[in-house]
Amino acid sequence: ATPHDADLVVFGGTGDLSMRKLLPALYHCDRDGRLAPQTRIIALSRGGLTDDDLRGKVDAEVRSAVPEGDDPEVWRRFLARLRHVPVDVRDDGDLHEGWRDLAALLGGNEDRDRIFYLASPPMTFGPFCRQAQQAGLVTPRSRVVLEKPLGRDLASARQINDEVGAIFAESQIYRIDHYLGKETVQNLLVLRFANAFLEPIWNSLWIDHVQISVTETVGTPGRRGYYDQAGALRDMVQNHLLQLLCLVAMEPPARNDRESIRDEKLKVLQSLRPISGSEADRFTVRGQYAEGPGMPGYLDEPDRSPPTDASYRVETFTAIRAEVKNWRWAGVPFYLRTGKRLPSRRSEIVVQFKDVPHSIFPGGSPNRLVLRLQPSEGIDLHIMAKEPGAGEVTLRPVPLGLSFARTFGTRVPDAYERLLMDVMGGNPTLFMRRDEVEAAWRWIDPILATWDSAGTPPEPYPAGSAGPPSAHELLGRSGRAWHEEE
Ligand code: BG6
Repeated sequence: ATPHDADLVVFGGTGDLSMRKLLPALYHCDRDGRLAPQTRIIALSRGGLTDDDLRGKVDAEVRSAVPEGDDPEVWRRFLARLRHVPVDVRDDGDLHEGWRDLAALLGGNEDRDRIFYLASPPMTFGPFCRQAQQAGLVTPRSRVVLEKPLGRDLASARQINDEVGAIFAESQIYRIDHYLGKETVQNLLVLRFANAFLEPIWNSLWIDHVQISVTETVGTPGRRGYYDQAGALRDMVQNHLLQLLCLVAMEPPARNDRESIRDEKLKVLQSLRPISGSEADRFTVRGQYAEGPGMPGYLDEPDRSPPTDASYRVETFTAIRAEVKNWRWAGVPFYLRTGKRLPSRRSEIVVQFKDVPHSIFPGGSPNRLVLRLQPSEGIDLHIMAKEPGAGEVTLRPVPLGLSFARTFGTRVPDAYERLLMDVMGGNPTLFMRRDEVEAAWRWIDPILATWDSAGTPPEPYPAGSAGPPSAHELLGRSGRAWHEEE
């Protein structure tokens, strides 16, 4: 691939996302020769850092995050690309003086790609774009990347989309969901649409249910300010889990291009059966971690600010029984689950097939296709096999497995590497279109409203445990169980 030549301007450029994800990803891209020599990375923040301060900070905090193949020569080259400009987004009409410095740094060159990456809270997206335009920085070759969550409900998402849309054309707007950049997620499309054997059985005749789980061991220390306002539903389900659901459930697109794939995903979101009122009690679970072995509860996590009312109400775990109401999926539950401080860090999609129609052997269990997103990316098809030996036939489920690391023997690139290079190359296929984001909120809003009006706190679960009991009942009452519980 030809190296990308662009100025990448990161608002929130010294924040957590930048330090943990964006800069390590950009370093790897640099090492792989995918950044042109002139490409600059310009961090904007309110802090009064100089270029050298920023380089020192990145050297101290980021270098340890890129141990594989860390090359001192590349590292020096990478640091030299970094600039810092203090910029604040104000609402009082006057442009912050930093915009002038940024304009001077960028120069008047309209022939060069310019990318604004907004790694900042969603309420800053509109003001940032307006002020960037006032400062004369928005050119036809500019693009803007919006981090999730895009708003906190449908109304605020629409407002942000309107505000950003007043400055940038839809084709210039890249709404990022980093799950779409994960190798296994892209491989799901290949698995479904480049192989013939799955498609005939990929429907309610053969599939009993689907589980989509993203479990994390981490808690939320130091993130209370954000997390109190978000919670697991906004932070993970509205975007990552629903996107995974779309890729499992969508119809085969006619082409592998930007609009065809997003059109099919949108149809899935529009087919989700709404969940509200008493159904939200039956089909959704919300939990919050309490103290567990050696770990504080959510309310006692170390943080700059003490817990507020919102802290008591926010969910750090959620499980939902969703349904896609269309011909292919009628009656097939899609169980979604995500949470913090669970026993393992695992993201996976489990497609559970129906049992054989008539069994001639004792024992046996239905086939399962497990797509592992992390750790150890791969695909396992669990099939029934006979245990070797004379006498009674004994069945055992055994996995037919594909491990990406073993099969391809290369480092699996981080999702952000792929997505940043897609933005630089102008390819929006793996980004969310406005209508997709809004359709996802349209389904989330009634669940949020029911939870808000319930007035009861989320169900506690000890940190390090497998989540609140109701999450198990959600499947248990129809004789099903979450994948790891067997
Ligand atoms: C982010 C959420 O979008 O995804 C975090 O804000 C979460 O709360 C993270 O920890 C998980 O991403 P990954 O790639 O580590 O599964």
